[in-house]
Amino acid sequence: MERYETVAELRAALDAGRRTGKTIGLVPTMGFLHAGHLELVRRARAENDHVVVSIFVNPTQFGPNEDFSSYPRDMERDLQLLREAGVDAVFTPGVEAMYPEPLATSISLKPLGEMLIGKVRPGHFTGVATVVAKLFNIVQPTRAYFGEKDFQQLTVIRRMVRDLNFPIEIVGVPTVREEDGLAMSSRNVRLSEENRRAARVLSAALGKGAALVSAGESDAARVYAVMRQMIDAESGVALRSLDICDVRDLAAVERIDRPVVLLVTAEVGPVLLIDQREARPE
Ligand code: PAJ
Repeated sequence: MERYETVAELRAALDAGRRTGKTIGLVPTMGFLHAGHLELVRRARAENDHVVVSIFVNPTQFGPNEDFSSYPRDMERDLQLLREAGVDAVFTPGVEAMYPEPLATSISLKPLGEMLIGKVRPGHFTGVATVVAKLFNIVQPTRAYFGEKDFQQLTVIRRMVRDLNFPIEIVGVPTVREEDGLAMSSRNVRLSEENRRAARVLSAALGKGAALVSAGESDAARVYAVMRQMIDAESGVALRSLDICDVRDLAAVERIDRPVVLLVTAEVGPVLLIDQREARPE
């Protein structure tokens, strides 16, 4: 496995393989890798000749009062995990390599990037879409892998690729969970034991909501009320948002007569957790 820190070095290394028609799978990450990231890598490894993983904690997707400086980092451990996973190239640019000068260009999705999490984190999806577009142009992958856990992010990237004609296949990968149902996240290390116990209610409520939908409940307000009551009953969890949306464009749904995604964000101790689950009427 080779590590590259500059755009020029990575490009030069990838161009050789590209000329011989090799496919490239890209897995963009912010590091502090866990089994969720490694599942994306496993899929990329199975489906491509070359696998490139990027590790870059992207400052432009964090708000001024968010956790950019305290975002967990452990480069040596990440590199070891990626080596063991059979990755060919790791791209670990510094901030100067990605942003040698302030960008004059950015990619904003309206209304997709401004709704839901975009409302709570203004500018977040502009930061995400822009850095992912840069990574796409730097690596020029055949396929790129994103987790369904960050469902709005996946939707934003799919839409950007469609709107701007990136010749890249976007692969969505199902959420990898802890045994108790908690969605794996780099931020979970900041949860105390008590927080961890409380956080279980999120995946449990999503499971309950999905079960109601598949049992024929079509009134989104009723599904919402049941999930909300479960989460409110857990005193260690402060619900920030709960939404029932169309899987394709994340528009709010009132009557569940097509596939929906249940989206939740909640503060548990010091961490803003997000989780998601798709639900289909019978
Ligand atoms: P990061 O939070 O490191 O996540 C990298 C990728 O791993 C994302 O596509 C995310 O959805 C996926 N992922 C995280 N937890 C997962 C889980 N439990 N199961 C399956 N997939 C999971 O998301 C980002 O970084 C950044 O916004 C990025 C796309 C790299 C742009 O900076």
